[in-house]
Amino acid sequence: MNIKKKIYKELNKIFKYIKINKKYDYKIQQNKKFSDYQINGIIEIIKKQKINKEYIFKIIEEKFKKKKIFKKINIIEPGFINIFINKKEIEKIINKYTKIKNFGIKNKKKQNIVIDYSSPNAAKEMHIGHLRSTILGDSIANILKFLGNKIIRINHIGDWGTQFGMIIAWIKKYEKNKKINNIISIEKIYQKAQKKFSKNKKFAKISRKYVVKLQNKKSNVIKIWKKIIKLTIRENQKIYKKLNIKLKKKNIIGESFYQKFLPNIIKDLLKKKIAKKKNKTVLVFTKNKKKTNAIVIKKKDGGYLYSTTDIASIKYRCKKFNAQKIIYLIDSRQKLYLNQIFSIVKKAKYIPKKTKLIHYNFGTILNKKGKPFKTRKGKNIKLKKIIKKTISVTKKIISNKKKYNKKKIKEISLKVAISAIKYYDLSKNRIKNYIFDINKMLSLKENTGPYMQYAYTRIISILKKNNTNITKSIQFNKFKILNNTEFKICKEIMNLEEIIILSSKGYPHIMCHYLYKITLLFSNFYETNRINKIKNIEIKNSKLKLIAIIAKIIKICLKLLGIQVLNKI
Ligand code: ARG
Repeated sequence: MNIKKKIYKELNKIFKYIKINKKYDYKIQQNKKFSDYQINGIIEIIKKQKINKEYIFKIIEEKFKKKKIFKKINIIEPGFINIFINKKEIEKIINKYTKIKNFGIKNKKKQNIVIDYSSPNAAKEMHIGHLRSTILGDSIANILKFLGNKIIRINHIGDWGTQFGMIIAWIKKYEKNKKINNIISIEKIYQKAQKKFSKNKKFAKISRKYVVKLQNKKSNVIKIWKKIIKLTIRENQKIYKKLNIKLKKKNIIGESFYQKFLPNIIKDLLKKKIAKKKNKTVLVFTKNKKKTNAIVIKKKDGGYLYSTTDIASIKYRCKKFNAQKIIYLIDSRQKLYLNQIFSIVKKAKYIPKKTKLIHYNFGTILNKKGKPFKTRKGKNIKLKKIIKKTISVTKKIISNKKKYNKKKIKEISLKVAISAIKYYDLSKNRIKNYIFDINKMLSLKENTGPYMQYAYTRIISILKKNNTNITKSIQFNKFKILNNTEFKICKEIMNLEEIIILSSKGYPHIMCHYLYKITLLFSNFYETNRINKIKNIEIKNSKLKLIAIIAKIIKICLKLLGIQVLNKI
């Protein structure tokens, strides 16, 4: 259903026919003024290849004319190619493809893709810093899966390290007889232990001993560690469930899992002369744009690090999952770090040549003053807290507007609030920072989640008033283009596949912008086409089908973004 793809295909055939084998960059754009689509950049190819301009234009014209879908082709000097589309053909395509599951969208290239996202640290509650990784990762995973890839979602939790020595030391010393059964008390212990660790040498020494005991799997120490992990996971799972995130317990392969591989990794990297020993520290020097950076992979005291684990995990993921791509959703501050890790595993040949390591970095969430969003004491805001706050604001707005019972209000507020948080994040270009502003997230006048949910319910209610629904109107009604707005909408419908593919490359905001565009077109269309009043049944059904298709697109896209639709608000 992708017109641009059809144009590319046709042009590629022509290039082959006239024996241009090199791949050139040219653009096909939707054109508002002069035609339906425009091809730009052909003139450069003509110059580079030194071919006769008239000759190539004549062939392009001839070949395009042969295809029914292209009505007319105009070539304007010096070399703009304008293409007009045959509306009858568009109608045919739309009537055919919208009946097929997911509109028949599929990607030919099916890969095993590992996505490392969310990945919070244990012994702490999840905070605002985990929001973007969790939301973006989940949605990109959904989109890649939709396109037919095999997706392995991994929650690389920070469940190992010296912090557990401190926490266990504290528990053993001060809380031996107390029952610890929630994450909040563990986090408090962690904070107190951290303070003491930095001030008190004796406590630090004991803590280190506990780290060794943990490494040697001493049963009474392991027991406490397991409990800490269990409580953290239980808490995180609650948040994932609320946010409608697909991470389950089975997706957790945390840092602790890789410990058994680490001694060999160090040995191997030393043997391959990739790592060097300095005093007792093991480090690797990597180069990036002529600058040399060092990264420690084993500490003087023999301890391994975050970096060592990441190296081991890449090797493991390639082998175990036959990963052709490993995607990381980690904030921009770890860009250099990840580049170092990637260059080490490549040098050490821990990954097949074809495997791609990709970092989708993202910006920070800011407060209204444009500063990183923290509590007054400078601590990270808990995720639980901002979710709760957003739900309560949503509840107030909804109860002021609607007369639902308490249960219904609760149910709707949850779905609307979560869509507000998620959509706002996804609709921003991920590289940039953004301001966390609940009122903006909930606005019905901007490109927001609630606005999309609202547009969807509007269409559902129109369909209902006309005794039909999405499936029925798509399956049984016949669609015909009756005016220019409808033709515009059709061209947007034809863009869906391209939008999904572009978004799958780490840019869900492209999908959000598309949704906004198509819902605005719908509003426009609905104002001038009062469907309920139309007498002619064929015309009415055709229009109902068009809006049903729009609703289905909203539903498909929101689902990929990890957002639920409502049938009624
Ligand atoms: N636990 C880390 C943090 O909270 C993020 C881990 C990201 N994934 C990874 N493979 N390094 O900052």
